[in-house]
Amino acid sequence: MLLRLFALTVLCVSTQVLAAPSAPVLPKVGIASPDGSLAVEVTTDNDGRPSYAVLRGGKPVITPSRLGFIFLDVPKFERNFVIARHSESSFDQSWEQPWGERRRIRNHYNELRVTLKEKTAPKRSIDVVFRVYDDGLGFRYEFPKQPGLEQVRIGSELTEFNIAEPATAWWIPAGEWNREEYLYHRTPLQEVGDAQTPITLRTDNGLHLSIHEAALVDYAGMNLTRIEGRKLRADLTPGIGDGKVVRNAPFNTPWRTLQVSDDAGGLVTSSLILNLNEPNTLGDVSWVKPMKYVGVWWEMHLDRKTWASGPKHGATNQNVMKHIDFAARHGFGGVLVEGWNVGWDGDWFGNGEDFSFTQPYPDFDIEKLAAYAKSRNVRLIGHHETSGNAAHYESQMDAAFDLYQRLGINAVKTGYVADAGQAKVMGLAGKVHYAWHEGQDMARHHLKVVTEAAKRHIAVNPHEPIKDTGLRRTYPNWISREGARGMEFSAWGVPGNPPEHEANLVFTRLLAGPMDYTPGIFGMKTRAPDGVATTWAKQLALYVVIYSPIQMAADLLENYEKNPGPFKFIEDVPVDWDETRVLNGEVGDYVTIVRKDRNSDDWYLGSVSDEEARELQAPLSFLQPGRKYVAQIYRDGDKADWKRAPQDIVIEERSVTSADTLTLRLAPGGGQAIRFVAR
Ligand code: NOJ
Ligand code: CA
Repeated sequence: MLLRLFALTVLCVSTQVLAAPSAPVLPKVGIASPDGSLAVEVTTDNDGRPSYAVLRGGKPVITPSRLGFIFLDVPKFERNFVIARHSESSFDQSWEQPWGERRRIRNHYNELRVTLKEKTAPKRSIDVVFRVYDDGLGFRYEFPKQPGLEQVRIGSELTEFNIAEPATAWWIPAGEWNREEYLYHRTPLQEVGDAQTPITLRTDNGLHLSIHEAALVDYAGMNLTRIEGRKLRADLTPGIGDGKVVRNAPFNTPWRTLQVSDDAGGLVTSSLILNLNEPNTLGDVSWVKPMKYVGVWWEMHLDRKTWASGPKHGATNQNVMKHIDFAARHGFGGVLVEGWNVGWDGDWFGNGEDFSFTQPYPDFDIEKLAAYAKSRNVRLIGHHETSGNAAHYESQMDAAFDLYQRLGINAVKTGYVADAGQAKVMGLAGKVHYAWHEGQDMARHHLKVVTEAAKRHIAVNPHEPIKDTGLRRTYPNWISREGARGMEFSAWGVPGNPPEHEANLVFTRLLAGPMDYTPGIFGMKTRAPDGVATTWAKQLALYVVIYSPIQMAADLLENYEKNPGPFKFIEDVPVDWDETRVLNGEVGDYVTIVRKDRNSDDWYLGSVSDEEARELQAPLSFLQPGRKYVAQIYRDGDKADWKRAPQDIVIEERSVTSADTLTLRLAPGGGQAIRFVAR
């Protein structure tokens, strides 16, 4: 036996020795994360094709996946490369969020910079920089200025993600007319088509992955196309010319990101995307105020009022005053008013050029209302629906923001309702072009809005936006956005959001950043065939489960006035947090999240289910040991069920400590919300 082993070893060694002269040396460079669990390796093959691979605990997560570009004017970057240089560095610093789902964030990674150089003339080069964290990694391309590539016109990006194991995928399709507003598919990875990011995967071995991007600045948004098997490839959003991206060197691409976690909750608590963005460039941003708001809004979606002028006009002085008074009485910071400005009459969906962003309808006295709101310690939230016509909006943007600044309106909700591919941007030659919502020109447009607004201390909340890639770190006035199917779908005469929707969002769209989902509906009968497909307790839980520093109490005021008991939770729940933890969760099934208030010692819990009834355990070990808390519980009643008895809610109190474990009983389509008041 011993001898056989020995012989085998000799055989292996001799094979290696014999093979050595003919086999080329393939240099491989790599780096591991700070705790050594995650590693990346970069190599080039016989043809000089560069690739990277990712391993976790020594096991492949991403098998060799290629890197590169096809250009429009010069030969591609795809093969004929050598690794000319590489260098390593480490970084470990903590930073504080001005507002957020947690106060402090540790940014701890090891970096590998690889310079790829062509073997033959013109010997062009490109750097690929990898930042490897314990919970994931990001990599980006850095284009130096070099002959022949002063201006870079990218036809395609060739970045691939070869997923090592079979997996289940949660994804929405890319390139469809309704932008990001699709229900999530849950399919085997091998059935993914062209998908938007973040895309979430759970491998058959139980590893959770999310692929997305960070710091999408002056570049095209990335979708992922499945090429074959488990291989996904970058699919850049088209631009307005023949290049997907046109940039002058030097420049960097956004980070391509991979989050990795044993459990679904680990994806939610990861700060990878934020860490890969640049720090705050706006200086003191204490003027950005997280808040809850009400609005002249849901009544339009229910078709009881109109955006357009006429007998059903919603944005009247009287209606807005009523909302301001309500907000002041119940401690809300803002009142959103839509349909206040000229341009909504006729086909506003297709008439972006008709909008004025400074001229109110005659029955909306903007000066008087803004002053009245201020006097009651409430602010109006401005609304700029552009119908996707960014070119027209930009022509009025300065005047529009100047007006808001003068009136003390410090937040604006923008809107880009237009079919995908039908946004409008101004080309270089002064000609208006049709554009995709996530193309390079719209990436530029959104940053222009955010930076111009910042100059006037205005926060921005775009609907039908470009995807979130963590730029709130750099521009903290980019306070929230839509970018998925919001509550509004459950108001319209179309199939609304199904009970599993929010349990999907938490582990997919929400990994990108905050969402203005607009929860808090008690009037479950709407124009949608199934109405609002949750219980009341679940509506309350959404304030904790779906993170956003601005949260709407979206329902009609009368529904709150009639139901002060459950409404109390909406009044109490904060929007700015010291800490966030996920107690349990499975993608698309259920999730329980706890968050600590920034301005008190209180904790809040939100738990939501899909269409299944569930019993979940919630150990309270997150509470301060030795301290007593009163748990104010808002739970599904015994008969609660989203379809038959959504309003069956039990509100009760009990005294708890960190040693207790609560059993959460969630109804079908149900949830639970708890405030833990520190004593
Ligand atoms: C769609 C937005 O999501 C919604 O909130 C808004 O009311 C309408 N567009 C009109 O701007
Ligand atoms: Ca929308």
